[in-house]
Amino acid sequence: MTAARTEQDAPAGAVTKVVIPVAGLGTRFLPATKATPKEMLPVVDKPAIQYVVEEAVAAGLSDVLLVTGRNKDAIENHFDRAWELEKALEQKGDQERLRRVMKSQILGDIHYVRQGDPRGLGHAVLCGALHVGAEPFAVMLGDDLIDPRDPLLPHMLDVQKRYGGSVIALIEVDPAFAHMYGCASVEPAEDDVVRVTDLVEKPEPGTAPSNLAVIGRYVLHPAIFDVLRRTEPGRGGEIQLTDALKTLAGMPAEQGGGVHAVVFRGRRYDTGDRLDYLRTTVSLASERSDLGKEFRAFLREFVAQLPPEVEDD
Ligand code: UTP
Repeated sequence: MTAARTEQDAPAGAVTKVVIPVAGLGTRFLPATKATPKEMLPVVDKPAIQYVVEEAVAAGLSDVLLVTGRNKDAIENHFDRAWELEKALEQKGDQERLRRVMKSQILGDIHYVRQGDPRGLGHAVLCGALHVGAEPFAVMLGDDLIDPRDPLLPHMLDVQKRYGGSVIALIEVDPAFAHMYGCASVEPAEDDVVRVTDLVEKPEPGTAPSNLAVIGRYVLHPAIFDVLRRTEPGRGGEIQLTDALKTLAGMPAEQGGGVHAVVFRGRRYDTGDRLDYLRTTVSLASERSDLGKEFRAFLREFVAQLPPEVEDD
């Protein structure tokens, strides 16, 4: 088992804290998310949130703050010890399952804060202000998975170190779907790094400034907290992180302003969206060393039997 890197091990000045908001209502996934948080939905045999925490810890972010809310007890239990389960598996001599159960509790140093009212992603991040203090920190969305073969966070942390300010991640989307995301106007900087000049949360269809959409990885300057405190509710009546980032993009560097972005072209899975969740489960299952061979055989047979056109339900 790999022990988490601790804050003491981290190089001086390195970002070690990550805020992971998991207090949203998950309405796109109802009724599954009525009593179960969407971040606990299994992707093959592991809840989505565990992939995210593992990614954080692998990038050196060992101090994890989960912003939780009502109905999120399952997340706290998942990262806690399950002694009765451990004991039963130990008695059966089932070391492999015991290892899997214990993996989630040896990850990072995990803390919790409650959001109370889900007043938006920006508000959820603001709930982490006291824990984070005055240093740059990361934010990761608990339902957004990045394939470990295409590491994004280490690159973003390096960009933040070199340029200062804040760093976001963008993907190129079909312009027809740009209105479903936060969208950025950018200027070139270097290779896959751009400077963000403007941001708009879920623009009206046809008005997006580009097809570059914000995804769930951020490395933020602590100046974001003051900006969030002043940010009025925006799209959907929620306090939007995108709106606060827009303000930061227009602020001078001496005040913690400036936003750069990494344009990510690797594999990403949005498990909060039903169709993407299904795609994620199928792709990850088909690549697994323990399940993949049989599952791929099933998939081949299944696809071969599909009628040329499937009517909608
Ligand atoms: P989403 O908009 O994807 O989450 O927010 P949601 O509101 O739960 O989802 P739907 O649209 O109703 O299905 C992005 C992230 O921000 C968190 C969510 O948990 C998710 O990880 N979030 C959102 C909060 O923690 N608090 C909020 O008030 C809103």
